[in-house]
Amino acid sequence: MSESAISIRNVSQRYGDAGAPDSVLALDDISLEVRKGEFVCLLGPSGCGKSTLLNVIGGLFKPTSGMCHVAGRLVDGSPHPDKIAFVFQESTLFPWYSIIENFRIALKFQGIPQSEWDDRAMQALKAVGMSSFASHYPDQLSVGMRQRVNMARGICVETDILLMDEPFAALDEQTRMVLGEDLSQLLAATGKTIVFVTHSLAEAVFLSDRIVVMSARPGKIKTIIDVNEAHPRSPDFMLEPRFSELRNECYALLRDEIRSTMAAQRDPQSAGA
Ligand SMILES: Nc1ncnc2c1ncn2[C@@H]1O[C@H](COP(=O)(O)OP(=O)(O)O)[C@@H](O)[C@H]1O
Ligand SMILES: [Mg+2]
Repeated sequence: MSESAISIRNVSQRYGDAGAPDSVLALDDISLEVRKGEFVCLLGPSGCGKSTLLNVIGGLFKPTSGMCHVAGRLVDGSPHPDKIAFVFQESTLFPWYSIIENFRIALKFQGIPQSEWDDRAMQALKAVGMSSFASHYPDQLSVGMRQRVNMARGICVETDILLMDEPFAALDEQTRMVLGEDLSQLLAATGKTIVFVTHSLAEAVFLSDRIVVMSARPGKIKTIIDVNEAHPRSPDFMLEPRFSELRNECYALLRDEIRSTMAAQRDPQSAGA
């Protein structure tokens, strides 16, 4: 149970050359172990490096310093599509292919035998209540439905790790909550390790085993909060006093960070300058 799926050691990321006027230190000495089957949320003010950290784990680039291992393998800027799937805020479905064809492409890319493509796709679509839309095209679906399909596709490919960068950010709150329930169900059923970026406190508490609260830029880990509640989680969890307490704890931790981000971004005119 304590086996690490992801091991991040002293990772820092600087964009641009140190000393250059536009140089940005996005991450400052991040160390984090994510256990197999764990659901970890990254929560923090905008610009604190959440996407940067996710992209380092995903092998989209090599960090300026430090190391990241995924399933014991060093991730040094080379993606491991056999180990890791990404789900982004915007649906990345190909618009000119039907939903089922989009799944077949993803499964083919993963090297899954063709005889299994449709069964796997239909199973995943069924899990998010979208099996009757398999032959539709993405633009025939609402934004919420597309993101549902997008999530199902991320889950049906055979990776142990799923990285999700604000996947529900474009959706209304009710749709987000329903998709959050689906995700908790899928986590319980598949045992995948998930790292999820959100700026929603309720989403973080509802979904996470651990919430990693990050400081304003340069992003550091401010604290890690444990949420001891088994998956799949029911909406009743949100009615428990413990849920509000955890949400308030997250808010208290974030408030100062958000204020300092806002102060740094303030329009000079409104600040009276
Ligand atoms: N490719 C890049 N080049 C230069 N700066 C970047 C790049 N990507 C992100 N940044 C900067 O790094 C900081 C962290 O960005 P990001 O990881 O996207 O934060 P978050 O996802 O928490 O909003 C921000 O200040 C952002 O402007
Ligand atoms: Mg981001």
